[in-house]
Amino acid sequence: MLDHVGSYAGDPILSLMEKFAADETVGKANLGIGLYYDDNGRIPILCSVGEAAQALRNNPQPHTYLPMEGLSRLRECIQDLVFGKDTDAVREGRVATIQTIGGSGALHVAARFIRAYFPDSAVWISDPTWDNHRPLLESAGLNVGVYPYYDAKTQGVDIEGMIATLNGLPEKSIVLLQPSCHNPTGCDLTPDQWDRVVDIMEQRRLIPFMDMAYQGFGDGLNEDASPIRKLIARSMTVFVSNSFSKNFSLYGERVGGLSVVCANADVAGRVLGQLKSIVRTIYSSPPLHGARIIATVLEDPTMHQMWEAEIEQMRVRIKSMRKILREVMEANIPSMDASYLTTQRGMFSYTGLTPEETFWLKDEKAIYMVQSGRICVAGLSEQNAPRVAEALAEVMARRQQVAALTGC
Ligand code: LMR
Repeated sequence: MLDHVGSYAGDPILSLMEKFAADETVGKANLGIGLYYDDNGRIPILCSVGEAAQALRNNPQPHTYLPMEGLSRLRECIQDLVFGKDTDAVREGRVATIQTIGGSGALHVAARFIRAYFPDSAVWISDPTWDNHRPLLESAGLNVGVYPYYDAKTQGVDIEGMIATLNGLPEKSIVLLQPSCHNPTGCDLTPDQWDRVVDIMEQRRLIPFMDMAYQGFGDGLNEDASPIRKLIARSMTVFVSNSFSKNFSLYGERVGGLSVVCANADVAGRVLGQLKSIVRTIYSSPPLHGARIIATVLEDPTMHQMWEAEIEQMRVRIKSMRKILREVMEANIPSMDASYLTTQRGMFSYTGLTPEETFWLKDEKAIYMVQSGRICVAGLSEQNAPRVAEALAEVMARRQQVAALTGC
């Protein structure tokens, strides 16, 4: 009966994590998946999270069902974090927010909503983007288009190419944008470039869909959300997905949010109702434990402050790993300018390595990275960063030798 089922080729990111777990090499480095490791090479349990978990143990509550839209305390916290405290749109009740199963859950629920209410709109994603964006959106029945984003020559954003494409999109096209810490390139728009993009989105009546998975890892919690705030200041309809996996180091708890900024409270009420109905047909209601932990941290002033300090520590550590990587690479190849490593932001960086070079690094050096050449800089520690940098430099030096020999 099941002979027609084909085998699964695997996921470029998650399957790599499985291979890493099975690798017994001492000193192996996981730069594949977006996981933040501390300097001891461990995925940290944040102190703020530990305190909240203890507070929950001291005051046990029944493990009842959450409503379809999730924990209301968490939903309020999401609105404060994403849109800022006392934002007009939130105060006026114009934002429909649900708790979701991580950022991926938010994307899927939004995709189902878009399919139902904007059946003629395609979703436009950056070239390149997170490996799962396209399959996730297409699996919900959406058409997906691509706008230029990364310029390999400048190792930055191709802003003119991006603007030209956005300018040609039909009204009500959905444009998926990452407000900060772009996955996979680490290249973000500058504030001026955001102003240009926001102007075009407004003039052409495009619908921004902001996917924010790394809030706090770029420049700060408010700074990283500032492109979203620019959009809502224009009274535009905006979709926002956010994830707590990274900034709470709570990957497996799967907590995220989906917010839709609407024209008025009446529309927001109806949108919320439809989001609930979509949730009911997929998983009924989201899980409780991680949501309670996050709401407890965010509501308590002391724990909240502790969490902000912990995010800052993670952000600073990522930046220092970028610096070490750059220094060792430039020291190993004096002709090399690796400044892109310190200008890019967040967990990820594009190295420009070919798939074959990434396989070589995996097989010969037990250094795991995504085939696209993306590395997760947050997977580096003071111990492994020099070894990784030397291995990267070795690959690049080999490439230069081949180029010198073959003339290409
Ligand atoms: C990543 O891009 O590595 C993370 O967002 C994890 C994932 O689910 O792919």
